[in-house]
Amino acid sequence: MTLPTPIILDCDPGHDDAMAILLAAANPAIELLGITTVSGNGSLDKVTYNAQRVCALANIVVPIAKGANDPMAGKASAAPTIHGVSALDGAELPEPTFELSNFSAVELIADLVSNCDRKVTLIPTGPLTNIAMFLQAHPELHDRIEHISFMGGSTERGNWTPYAEFNIWADPEAADIVLRSGLPLIMSGLNITHQALATPEILNRILQLDTKLANTIVDLLKFFADTYRDVFGMPDPPVHDPVALAIIIDASVAKLVSAPVSIELTGEFTRGATVVDLHGTTGQSANVDVAMELDVDKFWNLMIEAIDSLGSKQK
Ligand code: BDR
Ligand code: CA
Repeated sequence: MTLPTPIILDCDPGHDDAMAILLAAANPAIELLGITTVSGNGSLDKVTYNAQRVCALANIVVPIAKGANDPMAGKASAAPTIHGVSALDGAELPEPTFELSNFSAVELIADLVSNCDRKVTLIPTGPLTNIAMFLQAHPELHDRIEHISFMGGSTERGNWTPYAEFNIWADPEAADIVLRSGLPLIMSGLNITHQALATPEILNRILQLDTKLANTIVDLLKFFADTYRDVFGMPDPPVHDPVALAIIIDASVAKLVSAPVSIELTGEFTRGATVVDLHGTTGQSANVDVAMELDVDKFWNLMIEAIDSLGSKQK
């Protein structure tokens, strides 16, 4: 019997982060050890509260620890236009059912990694501040990390500035530390996450599950769809974050290409851009497996099975 892959989800919920929490908690190939939070889609307090409320919504009980409030250089700036005032607008969510961990995010990651009998995979779906701080504070634990599979960057253009994607733009110094770490990295950037669209057909499939959880998820995704339409003019919203986890659950969900990836730290107009050398023009060695093409059906089947399994347990 294959044991489930132990993971820690480092996130800033956020609608798509919430979907990643559900997938992590429900999929039998994954053992969700804990959740850590980082300021991004909202302030640290808001996104931490949201992680707690999503766990309450789906009866998930795992340690949750608060992480970084500010990026490694400068001050935090949240993305409220996309996720609303609460950072998770669109549905009534229950109040938290358990207290936060007394550990900080870095302490919780170190504790869970040290005490796990297998190597642990980190899934960051927000700015990379906590992960970079963990790597700097605990070099002795680097060989206990199986993969870091993160949502961020793009092989193409950005969404927060013309060339920078939000998670990388929010803390480029942290992203630079992670990308230079030498650890096995998988990058799910906008080029693939924009294939994970919550279309009306997908919303319909979720509604047909006919559970309280499914209805709440559809309300959240409808809010997300409205803001994506208003802000980016996209007809359907991309559910970015669970893609980074789906690849760990089933490698055939995405086609990966090894490439050198660097973070632009100083560009006047391009700070936070991921410079992905797909054609080997820089002569640098590949440091990242870059996710290129999504098996859209497999992705949504995993996501819908997760919502079904968590929702049916509540009936
Ligand atoms: C990323 O930014 C956030 O708004 C989403 O949660 C996702 O992690 C997409 O650029
Ligand atoms: Ca996120």
